[in-house]
Amino acid sequence: MNLQEAQKKLAQYSQEHILKYYEELSTTEQAHLLKQIDETDFSVVEQIKKPSGINKAQGVITPIKAMQIPEIEANREAFTQTGLAAIRQGSVAAVLLAGGMGTRLGSDHPKGMYDIGLTKPVYIFERIISNLLDVVRQADTWIHLFIMTSDKNHQDTTSFFQAHDFFGYRAEYIHFFQQDMAPASTYEGQVYLEDKYKIATSPNGNGGWFSSLQNAGLMDLIRMNHIEWLNVFAVDNVLQRIADPCFVGATISQNCSVGAKVVRKNDPDEKVGVMCLKDGHPSIVEYYEQTPQLRDTKDENGDPAYNFGVILNYLFRISSLEAICKTEMPLHIVEKKIPFIDDDANPVNPTEPNGYKFETLILDMIELMDTCLPFEVEREKEFAPIKNKTGVDSVESARMLLQKNGITL
Ligand code: UTP
Repeated sequence: MNLQEAQKKLAQYSQEHILKYYEELSTTEQAHLLKQIDETDFSVVEQIKKPSGINKAQGVITPIKAMQIPEIEANREAFTQTGLAAIRQGSVAAVLLAGGMGTRLGSDHPKGMYDIGLTKPVYIFERIISNLLDVVRQADTWIHLFIMTSDKNHQDTTSFFQAHDFFGYRAEYIHFFQQDMAPASTYEGQVYLEDKYKIATSPNGNGGWFSSLQNAGLMDLIRMNHIEWLNVFAVDNVLQRIADPCFVGATISQNCSVGAKVVRKNDPDEKVGVMCLKDGHPSIVEYYEQTPQLRDTKDENGDPAYNFGVILNYLFRISSLEAICKTEMPLHIVEKKIPFIDDDANPVNPTEPNGYKFETLILDMIELMDTCLPFEVEREKEFAPIKNKTGVDSVESARMLLQKNGITL
């Protein structure tokens, strides 16, 4: 993109101020800024002007049937064999979402580099790889693992894996890719400059994972290896079972477009998104959308009808993802602290939120799928998220759960 084209693009979105310092930049800096302008989707900022902020469709919510533990146990052997066969054929790969900023944990490094050990170093990434290695051993085959990073943590993440020899994983089976970024803006919709030659950006949310994987050119590798299923999971659940053969087998046997691992809510007001049907499509009611009426609805056995919370572990059929990849996802507008340069070009690191970043969420992809299998897992065995330093979903609570599962820290 040349200067004229950049001016034209910016004028379209009233963001001409981005070129304010252009004349005083070095040639390299000018090239950097033009490239960033070319790659940035400024249309997301226009969403601020929409009345509801989030353009999420409304619909009629009804319960969805989850496959519960007794049914899973009765079929465990058959599901596991189906899952193992698919894994051995190479049809299943895993996608680790590690592009988040982990602001609540408050570490300067990527979340996966966090050391949760007590008597020895035990890194979050190490725990995840160790869990996946269990299945590699069980199936006696390597499983491709895609790791999504962002512009902010890519270098740190890849160097960390190299320095630790990929925690025993076969390096040719690990593929890093960077997620796309979105511009960050003032409350009025003016995109911030982080430096004279740099637009302030942040990762575009975990809903961007599939388009980012495509944009990174990894679909060729997926096709060449005949991969049909992607098990997508979050970096922060250290008890996460990945490419779990029983879960894979159950989703395949039920002929669903996606499987979602879910846990039974531990209290009606637990802050977790629950699975449901929206206008007949699988969907998720987020905890802040839950009405008293939804909370108190019972099923035919007298149990809460909306009782299964998602834990960000989904098995997507790739052909179903490809079918929806042109569909626009709802955009979530989130208030954040955004470092920027002020009118005199001095860097400012705000201590309070000063604007918006723009994200799409993976849970909104579920609604675009025709069929979903909510698959119940025991939370004490499979759900130990690390979101905060202390308290709920913290390093402390995850350590307790790891120790309960016999992991030495
Ligand atoms: P969270 O929603 O917990 O966000 O991410 P976060 O950025 O890690 O943490 P906070 O909210 O700033 O404290 C859930 C999962 O989605 C990934 C995260 O890395 C985590 O695995 N994620 C999130 C991305 O990969 N990209 C994003 O843009 C956002």
